Amino acid sequence: MRPLIAVLNGPNLNMLGLRQPAVYGRATLDDVEQVCIQTAERLDVAIDFRQTNIEGELVSWIQECRGRARGIIINPAAYSHTSIAVLDALLAVDLPVVEVHISNIHRREAFRHHSYVSQAATGVICGLGVRGYALALQAMTDMIMDEDDR
Ligand code: DQA
Repeated sequence: MRPLIAVLNGPNLNMLGLRQPAVYGRATLDDVEQVCIQTAERLDVAIDFRQTNIEGELVSWIQECRGRARGIIINPAAYSHTSIAVLDALLAVDLPVVEVHISNIHRREAFRHHSYVSQAATGVICGLGVRGYALALQAMTDMIMDEDDR
């Protein structure tokens, strides 16, 4: 069976394409999902791609990954900078985590420079646009293969 990787997206990412295109580009969330589907096919992994505007829903989805998914790729969006609940959920599931940001949060406002989520992340990709998701899937697949080799 192909390993399952959850790709979770936080608030306002449903607005991609319309939202601040100078910062986030013109790709929509559907485009991001297509990039992930195509990359997953190439890597021979399964993905569960989701987006929510609700913090508690994101927490529940992370909890559901325990025992079900092999890893979590997450763009927590604004919750990166505010949510101890998202951090705690990621710490609780004990899975590899890759945090993705489309924009380079370190080149932006000071309040975006700190991410609570990074404390639970195996690695962080930011500033590379939508291709960050494909790179995260590649890295996660490598980590799963390394784990299976052990
Ligand atoms: C974001 C960066 C966050 O600071 C912001 O709140 C987002 C998107 C990104 O993908 O660049 O909503 O996570």
